[in-house]
Amino acid sequence: MKRTRTSKAWMREHVTDPYVQRARAEGYRSRASYKLMEIDDRDRLIRPGDTIVDLGAAPGGWSQVAARRLKGNGRVLAIDLLEMDGLHGVEFIRGDFREERALRRLEDLLAGARAGLVLSDMSPNISGVPSSDQARIAHLAGLGLDFCRRWLKPDGAFLVKMFQGRGYDDFVREMKTVFASVATRKPDASRGRSAEVYLLGKSLKQESAAARMPGRTGADPICPDAGSRGNGATGNG
Ligand SMILES: C[S@@+](CC[C@H](N)C(=O)[O-])C[C@H]1O[C@@H](n2cnc3c(N)ncnc32)[C@H](O)[C@@H]1O
Repeated sequence: MKRTRTSKAWMREHVTDPYVQRARAEGYRSRASYKLMEIDDRDRLIRPGDTIVDLGAAPGGWSQVAARRLKGNGRVLAIDLLEMDGLHGVEFIRGDFREERALRRLEDLLAGARAGLVLSDMSPNISGVPSSDQARIAHLAGLGLDFCRRWLKPDGAFLVKMFQGRGYDDFVREMKTVFASVATRKPDASRGRSAEVYLLGKSLKQESAAARMPGRTGADPICPDAGSRGNGATGNG
């Protein structure tokens, strides 16, 4: 296939990107690893002994950081639509997090334990139609939040990728109904021009911790194609 000017420019930017070079030198699978490291250095999210759930984990950069920082004391459970090469200390499920079947498999791995940290770097395939991309990422983020309502420890944390734009404020409001504190994070490794931003929710509000419900809570009202398939990788901002 003939390379377009845009894909050539992307490739040039990618190979000269300092985080890409660092990831290669330090043995990380993605430049995204540095986003989590920077946020964790500041917020101390990865705590020894915890179970960490990584939603949208492939190629594995965040799972690698989580496993390395847990140093064998704790578990990392990862899920992605795409296959992921095995990683020491990471239990991986290939599946679509929007589907009940994949959720059940993840819950089976948890075996009744609660997570200390839920990470969601899930991104839909970017279509270039902002309203549609926005609705799809909001849907994925909303499913991650539902998961936290049921499976997070009361003092746990949820780090989730969102795009600024339509639906963003609604999602922040929803986060605030669940967490005692909600902050935004835009790590250096997140490209400045990208609309990507991370939201960090910490400590479940008492009423959320008390009202844990089995099964998935209702469909996301902002997502018209909830439950549809074909939402592969990936938007790496
Ligand atoms: C930006 S990448 C994640 C990068 C990862 N944090 C890392 O450090 O290597 C986003 C991932 O979300 C996954 N994803 C998107 N929709 C998903 C879904 N419905 N279920 C599971 N994974 C999904 C994509 O397949 C893709 O691998």
